[in-house]
Amino acid sequence: MDAILQARVDDLRRYLPEHSVPETLALLADHFPGRVSFSTSFGLEDQLISHFIFEHELPIRVFTLDTGRNFQETYSTWNKTLQRYGQPIEVVASQAASLEKMLTRKGPNSFYESIANRQECCHIRKVEPLARALAGQQVWITGIRAEQSANRQHMHRAEWDAGHQLLKVHPLFDWTWEQAWSFAQAHGIPVNPLHQQGFVSIGCAPCTRAIAPGEDFRAGRWWWENADAKECGLHHTLGHQGLDPVVERLPG
Ligand code: ADX
Ligand code: SF4
Repeated sequence: MDAILQARVDDLRRYLPEHSVPETLALLADHFPGRVSFSTSFGLEDQLISHFIFEHELPIRVFTLDTGRNFQETYSTWNKTLQRYGQPIEVVASQAASLEKMLTRKGPNSFYESIANRQECCHIRKVEPLARALAGQQVWITGIRAEQSANRQHMHRAEWDAGHQLLKVHPLFDWTWEQAWSFAQAHGIPVNPLHQQGFVSIGCAPCTRAIAPGEDFRAGRWWWENADAKECGLHHTLGHQGLDPVVERLPG
């Protein structure tokens, strides 16, 4: 990372906590022109961020990883978002050759058979496409909130993603579910109808179910696994650091 970028990271450290979400997004777009991307899975948090980007016509690229296994409700939310804002959402899909090989060898539901198979599927449908989507970018914006899991509480609002070599920013990091929900209702933001059926965190259809009141937000994801930290590999919390250590080790 060069000195100019370092100066910008310093600015961000100072300014991000003092700004509203649209201001934060505008600041990032301004500081990293043409190199800011937002990934959406059309969940509640992502719908709010899309709203801010589209309503304010911010020059931030919006993309989704189409796993091919989403709920129909998620596809409807995607469609409603296109209709409401009339702005592009880029699609990044799995590489056909890897997908064909996995499906031919293991069939369509291999993820239920072992953690290794589940990780292989997530890798082909999400992790590898994400790496392609983020190549050449300097900032990756996500809808992660601290409240989503014990694991995510250790993340930071802005952090260095060593794996993708970019700055990762979660503008809604400190928001509660209730805050996000009220905001969406007040502004008529299209939301996934599954949220009203007990689905809080929504991923692929075969790997997501509704949660009971009081359960962890992510308890419905890969519910058949007992792993402590249920992550698909998009967000490697161990590979992230707060900005301070990053700034310290940046070349002068
Ligand atoms: S996951 O790692 O378990 O799948 P989660 O569903 O909590 O992630 O979503 C956290 C953030 O990751 C979202 O706010 C979004 O920025 C990004 N994300 C997750 N799934 C996708 C997807 N299919 N396409 C694009 N971004 C995604
Ligand atoms: Fe495959 Fe399930 Fe991962 Fe989706 S969440 S990529 S279907 S294992």
